[in-house]
Amino acid sequence: MLAVLSLSLAAHFLLCGAAQPDWYKRNLDTVQRIYNLTVYPANAKIISEGAPAVPPGLFNENATGRVTPVGEFFGFQDSFEYFFGLAPLPQGSPPNGAFTNATIVEFVSGCPEVAASTVYLSASTINPDNSTGPFITALKEIAFWRFDDEGAVLKYDAWIPNLDAFTPIMHGFDQYTLQGMNTTIHGVCGLQNQTCVGNNTVYDGVDDCVQTLAGKPFGRLDEAWGDNVVCRMIHVLLTKLRPEVHCAHVGPTGGRKCIDVEYNDVFFNDEFVFGDPLGSTFTCGA
Ligand SMILES: *[C@@H]1O[C@H](CO)[C@@H](O)[C@H](O)[C@H]1NC(C)=O
Ligand SMILES: *[C@@H]1O[C@H](CO)[C@@H](O)[C@H](O)[C@H]1NC(C)=O
Ligand SMILES: *[C@@H]1O[C@H](CO)[C@@H](O)[C@H](O)[C@H]1NC(C)=O
Ligand SMILES: *[C@@H]1O[C@H](CO)[C@@H](O)[C@H](O)[C@H]1NC(C)=O
Ligand SMILES: *[C@@H]1O[C@H](CO)[C@@H](O)[C@H](O)[C@H]1NC(C)=O
Ligand SMILES: *[C@@H]1O[C@H](CO)[C@@H](O)[C@H](O)[C@H]1NC(C)=O
Ligand SMILES: *[C@@H]1O[C@H](CO)[C@@H](O)[C@H](O)[C@H]1NC(C)=O
Repeated sequence: MLAVLSLSLAAHFLLCGAAQPDWYKRNLDTVQRIYNLTVYPANAKIISEGAPAVPPGLFNENATGRVTPVGEFFGFQDSFEYFFGLAPLPQGSPPNGAFTNATIVEFVSGCPEVAASTVYLSASTINPDNSTGPFITALKEIAFWRFDDEGAVLKYDAWIPNLDAFTPIMHGFDQYTLQGMNTTIHGVCGLQNQTCVGNNTVYDGVDDCVQTLAGKPFGRLDEAWGDNVVCRMIHVLLTKLRPEVHCAHVGPTGGRKCIDVEYNDVFFNDEFVFGDPLGSTFTCGA
C-alpha cells in the first residue's frame, strides 16, 4: 500500500514538474522570450531596426516554418519578420492597440528537440505615454517547435485560429462590409505608397493601387493565402522591414507570394517545408 502510494507520488512529481529537466526550462524560456518580443514596444524596435534587434539564440539561421493561415517562412529573416513584423503597432485606425501581454497557457516538451505551446497574446490600447490602456481582445497561437542543439528554434508549425474574429475587434471595424473593404484597401494602398518607393514601387500611385485591389477578391483572413486583398493587407506590414522583398507581394501580381495556392498542397507539404519525412519533425525520438 505504501509502495503504491510512493510510486504514485513519484509519478505525480514527474508529471507536475517538481523537477523539470534543464532543457524543458530552456525550451519554455525560448518560446516565452519569442512571444515577449511580440509585445509592444519590443516589436516596434525590431520593426524599425530589423535583424540586429533580434536577440541571438532564439532562431537558427535556417529557421523554417508554416503559420496557418498566413504562409510559409524560410530562413531566419523570414521567420523573425513573421513573428515580430506582423505584431500590431499602436498606429492608424482606432482603437490604437498592440499586444501588451504574452501568456503561455499550455506547454509541453517531452525531449530536448521538441515542444508544443499555446499562447494568448492580449491586446490592449496603448496610451500616449506608452502605458497599457483597456483590454481589447486576444490572439491565440498554437505551435509545435523543433530546436537545434543549442536550443534555438529550427522548425515550427503554428496555427492562429479565428483571425477572422480577432481582426474586426482589434481594428474596430468589420473588414467584410463594403465600407470595411474600402477602408482596408485604402489602408493597404496608403501604406505601400510610403514604403514601396523608388526601385520598390509597384503601383502608379494610390489610385492605381485602389483600382487594382478593388478588382481582386477580398479573401478571408482564416485563409489569407491567395491573390486577394487580405493577403496584401498582411504582407504590406512587412514592407517596412524589407521593401525590396515584400513590395512585390503587395503589387499587382502578388510576387509569387500573394497568389492563389492549392489548399491540398500548401497545408500538407511538410516534407518540402521541413525537409524531414512526414510526421518526424515534431515527434520525440523520430
Ligand atoms: C516575459 O515578459 C514578462 C513581462 O514583462 C516578464 O515578467 C518575463 O520575465 C518575460 N519572460 C522571459 C522569458 O523573457
Ligand atoms: C544552415 O544551412 C546551411 C545549408 O544547408 C548549412 O551550411 C548551415 O550550417 C546551416 N546553419 C546552421 C546554423 O545550422
Ligand atoms: C496577462 O494576460 C493574462 C491572460 O489574458 C492575464 O490573466 C494576466 O493578468 C495578464 N497579466 C498582465 C501583467 O497584464
Ligand atoms: C513609445 O514607444 C515607441 C516605440 O518604442 C517610442 O518610439 C516612443 O517614443 C515611446 N513613446 C513614449 C511617450 O515614450
Ligand atoms: C473609401 O475610403 C476612402 C478613404 O478612407 C474614402 O475617401 C472614400 O470616400 C471611401 N469610398 C466609399 C465609396 O466609401
Ligand atoms: C535602383 O536600381 C538601380 C539598378 O539596379 C541601382 O543602380 C540603384 O542604385 C537603385 N537605387 C536605389 C535607391 O536602390
Ligand atoms: C504615392 O501616391 C501619390 C498619389 O497617388 C503619387 O503621386 C506618388 O507617385 C505615389 N508614390 C509611389 C512611390 O507610389
